Amino acid sequence: MRLKTRAGFAGLTAGVVSVLLAGSAAAAPAPGSIGIGDPYYPHAGNGGYDVGHYDLRLTYQPATDLLSGATTILLTATQDLSAFNLDFGLKVSSVRVNNRPAKFATSTDGTGELTVTPSAPLKKGQTATVVVAYADTPSKVKIDGFTAWKKTPDGALAVDEPQSAAWWFPSNDHPTDLATYDISVEVPNDVAALSNGTLVRKTVQRPGWTRWNWRSTKPQATYLTSLEVGKFEVNQQTTPDGQPFITAYGADLGESLGAAKASIERTPEITEFLASKFGPYPFEAQGGVVTTGITFALENQTRPVYGARAFRSGSNTSIVAHEQAHQWFGDSVTLGKWSDIWLNEGFASYGEFLWSEETGEGTADELAQYIYDSVPAEDPFWQVLPADPGAENQFDAAVYDRGALAVHALRKTVGDDTFFRILQTWQQVKKAKSAVIPEFIALAEKISGKPLYDLFQTWLYTKGKPAVGPNGAQAF
Ligand code: ARG
Ligand code: ZN
Repeated sequence: MRLKTRAGFAGLTAGVVSVLLAGSAAAAPAPGSIGIGDPYYPHAGNGGYDVGHYDLRLTYQPATDLLSGATTILLTATQDLSAFNLDFGLKVSSVRVNNRPAKFATSTDGTGELTVTPSAPLKKGQTATVVVAYADTPSKVKIDGFTAWKKTPDGALAVDEPQSAAWWFPSNDHPTDLATYDISVEVPNDVAALSNGTLVRKTVQRPGWTRWNWRSTKPQATYLTSLEVGKFEVNQQTTPDGQPFITAYGADLGESLGAAKASIERTPEITEFLASKFGPYPFEAQGGVVTTGITFALENQTRPVYGARAFRSGSNTSIVAHEQAHQWFGDSVTLGKWSDIWLNEGFASYGEFLWSEETGEGTADELAQYIYDSVPAEDPFWQVLPADPGAENQFDAAVYDRGALAVHALRKTVGDDTFFRILQTWQQVKKAKSAVIPEFIALAEKISGKPLYDLFQTWLYTKGKPAVGPNGAQAF
């Protein structure tokens, strides 16, 4: 009946239709969209709800790569929903919504979409408790032809950007939907299960197995939620500020162990320095995990994960400064769209400049000038736009290096006092929220009282090597 009525509106504009529907009985509940609307990743996230909390209760067996258990999701519908999607690639055995069995279906086209149809539609504003039970071998699961779950000889790693969650827990997998977490993972006694936040407790329920219970009390993005299982040396300390400081070093680091420790163990010192520039550290714990299982590093909330190769030629506090700077830029203030990646990488790279300046290894002026001088105008580097690099170039050097030059050009244009006031105000107003680049530019203009359109146009939005270097005065 209602559908027929709606079909009768065909030919009217969408605006007129919604006005007419608003005036009549409420529209029939529709399914939530399969994506949140990200221009780079159309399947990332989902429409129609907002997650407040995830509770993961899992068991992982490294010998077989079998991950099993359940994730409980506390969400609020943001529209009337006949069905909704979760981003998840593993085999599901049951789904309950508000204690009632729900229908569910995993996409068959390899897009990692789990569609849940509750026994009764959810009303806009209604909360729901969604329990997804599952068991699978994540290393065999491909989503969009790819596997982010990394099986290692003694365990596994769920550490990747822009996506890693769908291989170990169902979620609204987009940095605009932040939530708190309890992550409980049971593993054999001879391995550790590391994750974010505070290690609330280690418990033993049955012989041979230990359950590691982690908690993140501050809103956290899905891709910054991580799991590292394997043989690790785990150290629990306390920062001078009284926060848990938990570090873990892969048992196979060999000759790099000393250099890794000499870097990661300085995390609280580096964090304190960055807090003096960016404002208070936004989270409740600190740490770092070093593993030979990945070749990159990732700013997982409170506890970044570092590929061991970063320490193969000696200590490297620059990478610690980068990942800790991300705790503000990327983790506390998250991306509104993946195309806004400059808000993460430009500022994390600038954190390296600041730390270098602090340690006397080169001022930000020197580091910025060196990058500008050493990349010739004809290098393809200058063809990638930091403000919209394309999904293929999301982690291109231009996003990091040209991105940092853009930040430096801003500093030189507005002066140190104003520059750090902009960064600190940004952190205050956007804390635990997502943001897009134009919002940063608007705030920088407001606080500096200067028109900065040309500056950002030149450094972020225009292909080619800027004619004036990052230390040059900008003409307006
Ligand atoms: N955000 C990370 C960093 O700059 C980069 C991660 C790149 N992702 C990857 N799978 N290589 O520290
Ligand atoms: Zn980074």
